[in-house]
Parts: sequence; structure tokens; C-alpha cells
Amino acid sequence: MEQLVVAIDGPSGSGKSSVSREAARRLGAAYLDTGAMYRAVTWHCLDAGTDLHDAAAVAAAVRAADLFISTDPDSEEVLIHGTDVTRTIREPFVSEAVSAVATNLAAREELVRRQRALIAGHARIVAEGRDITTVVAPEAQARILLTASEEARLRRRGLQLGGGQSGEDLHRQVVARDAKDSTVTNFTTASDGVVTLDSSDLDFEQTVQAVLRVVAGAG
Ligand code: C5P
Repeated sequence: MEQLVVAIDGPSGSGKSSVSREAARRLGAAYLDTGAMYRAVTWHCLDAGTDLHDAAAVAAAVRAADLFISTDPDSEEVLIHGTDVTRTIREPFVSEAVSAVATNLAAREELVRRQRALIAGHARIVAEGRDITTVVAPEAQARILLTASEEARLRRRGLQLGGGQSGEDLHRQVVARDAKDSTVTNFTTASDGVVTLDSSDLDFEQTVQAVLRVVAGAG
């Protein structure tokens, strides 16, 4: 049987993680959250006192990282050097530091290598992030850029964090982070063959359905 790879990219707050996870469940596929890998190695560098602006030290830490990420869509488990960081990596202090690792090209190279190996190990998988359609799995059968207006993305991220953040905090975690990330990955315009889905006016179920239609049409 031919392998099924679904690649989904998008900015912060586009809903790509929850939508990709649900699409994976319905497709009976594995699920890879590549952002969680960037977050986990960032947490590890912070925890170990590695200077995030020392590119060589960060790259060495990433290469040596003993990283486990569950590819079961019903599990969010992430372990680094045996520490369960499933919850901690979602904290704002990680979100605000992660771009320093994501813009380290040697660190990216190592994580891309591991992501490709994880993808290759599954007969069916939905992988999501910022560079899946373009770098990690450009040969995927279905490639989707999931976008949403800035207003919708700020609103969704606010809800996800349980409300109570200032507009300034949300802006830093969504718009400013995307601006930093977009210096190394292109997740704002679709490259050739990538289907753009704008979810600004779609609810969760409608967005999942739209993704599944792209996958069905790609077969
Ligand atoms: O998707 P999420 O917000 O969890 O991603 C966290 C960070 O990981 C992003 O802000 C970006 O810096 C980085 N990332 C990346 N390439 C990916 C996935 C995530 O650079 N494929």
C-alpha cells in the first residue's frame, strides 16, 4: 500500500494543531506536531542554561537531544532526556524563546532529519508545522497551507490560553513570533501545488472537513 502523508503548514493561531490532530484521527493516521519538537529542545536549552544566542551550543544541544514525541493523535506526550515536558512546552516563556532555536539553521537541519525519519516510519501520517509542505515533506500527497486573518488568530490563541492575557501579550505570542519565524520559513504564501485553506470564517468542524476534502481529492 502506498504511504499517505498529509503536510499542513500555517501561522500561530491558525488552528493547525487541533485541526491536524482531528484530521489524523479521522484518517486513522499518525500525527506529528513538529512545533512541539522545537518547543521541547527550546525548553531543554533554557533548563540547561544554554545561551540561546550561542548558535553552536544550541545546535550541539539539539543534535544530542534525547527527544521522544508521541505520534498517536490521542496523546500529546513529549519527553526530553526523560523529563515529561508535555505541559511546560506550551507555557508563554517557551513560546517567546522558541524562535531563537527555530532560526538556528543547524538546529533546523537536525530536527528536519528527525521529522523525516518519523514520517517515514508510518504508513499514514499527518504532519504539521511551518515548513512541512516545503522542506520536510514536499512530496506529500496532500499539502495544505492553513491560514486565518490576524484577528481570528489572536482570538483563537486567546481562547486556547484560557483568556486573561493582555492584547500586547497575545500580539507578542502570535504576530511578533510569526514575524521572527518567517525569516527562515515561508508559511504565509503557498508554494506550487500547496492548497490554501482560509479558516477565518470556518468553525472547527468545517475546517476539518475542508482538510479531509483536500486529502480525498489528492488520492
Ligand atoms: O506550532 P507551534 O506554535 O507550536 O510552533 C512553535 C515554534 O516552533 C514556532 O513559533 C516556530 O518558531 C517553530 N517551528 C518551526 N518549524 C516547524 C514547526 C515549528 O520553525 N515546522
